[in-house]
Amino acid sequence: MEKVLITGSSGFLGRHLVRELQKNAPYLSQIHTFRSYEYDLRERDAVRALLADKPCDTIIHLAALVGGIGANKERPGEFFYDNLMMGVNLIEEARKAGVKKFVNIGTICSYPKFTPVPFKEENFWDGYPEETNAPYGIAKKALYVQLLAYRQQYGFNGITLLVVNLYGPEDNFDLETSHVIPAMIRKFHNAKTNGEREVVLWGDGSPSREFLYVEDAARAIRLAAERYESAEPINIGAGREITMKKLAETIKKVVGYTGEIRWDTSKPNGQPRRCLDVTKAEKEIGFKANVLLPMGLEETYKWFVENIERIEEEERREAISRSYAPNPHGL
Ligand SMILES: NC(=O)c1ccc[n+]([C@@H]2O[C@H](COP(=O)([O-])OP(=O)(O)OC[C@H]3O[C@@H](n4cnc5c(N)ncnc54)[C@H](OP(=O)(O)O)[C@@H]3O)[C@@H](O)[C@H]2O)c1
Repeated sequence: MEKVLITGSSGFLGRHLVRELQKNAPYLSQIHTFRSYEYDLRERDAVRALLADKPCDTIIHLAALVGGIGANKERPGEFFYDNLMMGVNLIEEARKAGVKKFVNIGTICSYPKFTPVPFKEENFWDGYPEETNAPYGIAKKALYVQLLAYRQQYGFNGITLLVVNLYGPEDNFDLETSHVIPAMIRKFHNAKTNGEREVVLWGDGSPSREFLYVEDAARAIRLAAERYESAEPINIGAGREITMKKLAETIKKVVGYTGEIRWDTSKPNGQPRRCLDVTKAEKEIGFKANVLLPMGLEETYKWFVENIERIEEEERREAISRSYAPNPHGL
């Protein structure tokens, strides 16, 4: 019987992963979780205390500062520092604590801006990432290098999963920090509710993206934790590409909005194309995505509608507490 520690368990992917392990990992005797206000992973002492308080065999490291293009552009320093420091501290303390396996949740944002499509794991180092998410992507890529070095010097067993854009129920629908799917859902929903004639979306609609339903992602992480032992990164995705234009039309239909879409070309497009080669995941861990995008979008929108009142109430409370809180940067 094993003990696992999940960092970032309160987040979007984390909540689904906890449920996936509770349901499908009967060999686990304990699933440790915690919040950042209890143990801030950017602080080395907090990480040391965490591993002393919650001893474990495996760590699945999800905790991160994440967001869409807007948030990455606004706060590149934080995206670099927080993501790097959380991982560096955790991997070093995990090694010292004798943790047997470390599952590092990486990101497709670490791939070079102009990677041949579909992205293959062997092209991971062939260039610099797309500029708007490079600080985030490189911080996460550095953790992969740390794990390689630790495997070589200490025999520490760390694996890295390169996870594509996720979506699904319980995603972050805050328009200031959300990823593209929840942002589009909310914009179309608001426009429908308020009878607005057009919805403005970022960029020109030409870039392509790939999306993986969050429950599929949680299953892939469990399978990799159980079956994958190599240092080489492994792509986790659905292996299907869709343009922003097509995505917007699909979400518009799911939401039932009948107005126009206007593309704001003064806003960045982000990476031109994104789609993963997922053959390695299928071969090595037996993972194949189950949920098709239209079906997943229906589920996501259903969840959003059922939870909109709670989301709005939480946002009101957060806005009030932010207006009273001291500026964290002392400015
Ligand atoms: N969402 C995507 O589309 C996507 C795509 C590819 C890869 N990923 C990766 O998947 C992972 C999870 O993403 P997500 O979307 O689930 O993120 P999320 O919903 O924003 O959750 C972030 C989690 O990180 C924790 N955290 C943040 N700062 C922390 C700190 N200083 N100390 C301790 N914990 C901290 C948060 O804990 P508190 O709530 O307690 O603050 C929260 O549980 C990330 O590693 C991300 O890079 C996500």
